[in-house]
Amino acid sequence: MRIPAILGLALAFLLACPGSRAQTQEPQGAELAGRLGCLACHSLKGQGGKLAAPLDGIGARLAPRELGVAIADPRQRHPRAKMPSYAYLPPMEQAALVKFLQTLK
Ligand code: HEC
Repeated sequence: MRIPAILGLALAFLLACPGSRAQTQEPQGAELAGRLGCLACHSLKGQGGKLAAPLDGIGARLAPRELGVAIADPRQRHPRAKMPSYAYLPPMEQAALVKFLQTLK
């Protein structure tokens, strides 16, 4: 099974970054990233899928607004991307994902 491994990974990442707990949205974002299977396609710290670019350092490469677009409307950034749109998520959850991605520097 792939999903539990991904969840474990997100959790491990969270535990490895005690500072990230300061902002309450980040843990939720990390949990979401695990649950939504982002790492089926993307990798983080060498673990995960190879279908898409690694998420390492994404918080340094993209502004929060760009991260939001990447999640809600992936085709706007990469017209041929196979990434599904996560626009169906409640705004709070999209914001939590962005917060989490921002910590990846
Ligand atoms: C089905 C595979 C797939 C899944 C699942 C997926 N992505 Fe993507 N994602 C892609 C592809 C392909 C791209 C296009 C560019 C690339 O390779 O990074 C992309 C692009 C991105 C980008 C923009 C990168 C850039 O430089 O423009 C971000 C941020 C991102 N994904 C985050 C996520 C997050 C967070 C999740 C989970 C909520 C997720 N992705 C789930 C395949 C996926």
